[in-house]
Amino acid sequence: MEIIILILIAYVLGSIPSALWVGKLFYNTDVRQHGSGNLGATNTFRVLGKTAGMVVTILDILKGTAAVLLLLLPSFSSAGIHPLLLGVCAVIGHMFPIFAKFKGGKAVATSGGVLLGYNWPIFIIVLLAFLIALKVTKMVSLSSMIVAVVGFMYCVGYYFWTGDFYLMIVVGLMGVFIFYRHRANISRIKAGTEPKVNWL
Ligand code: G3P
Repeated sequence: MEIIILILIAYVLGSIPSALWVGKLFYNTDVRQHGSGNLGATNTFRVLGKTAGMVVTILDILKGTAAVLLLLLPSFSSAGIHPLLLGVCAVIGHMFPIFAKFKGGKAVATSGGVLLGYNWPIFIIVLLAFLIALKVTKMVSLSSMIVAVVGFMYCVGYYFWTGDFYLMIVVGLMGVFIFYRHRANISRIKAGTEPKVNWL
């Protein structure tokens, strides 16, 4: 029972549609009707500017972090579930949010938050990889997919070093989610029409 409650809490946490609620509450704007239409931090930057974009980035990251850290709550500390599985539930909530007709974001920031909660040094590594990729490619989508690959490769090496099998599998799974959710971006990248940013 405890495990089912935890899974539901993690999914509901991930379901919080930060981009939608920040846009509607503070800017009277539905970001789904502008830019790429995605309920994510990048589209929030694009449509509502830096402040809203940063707020949504932080909130989307923290959803994943909070889900992983649920097991620190005394009432759940003895539940027999791996924290990364709760992270996956939050990422699924982010992609298919109960509060936004199951049409959510592309899994990037919330997956990062899962790493932040579980193993913060790896979060720092993937964040740096993302910033370098963004500096070079100027495309958030492409940088996100590059980081999905880099993060997985790092976690394969980390598995041979520490034996953390769950981390390798979950980072691989989150990478698959990220590629799957970027299908439209991949088509635009191939066609040379993916928007570029000059943030760095
Ligand atoms: O995190 C989402 C980003 O990689 C792409 O977003 O709005 O450009 O499709 P968007």
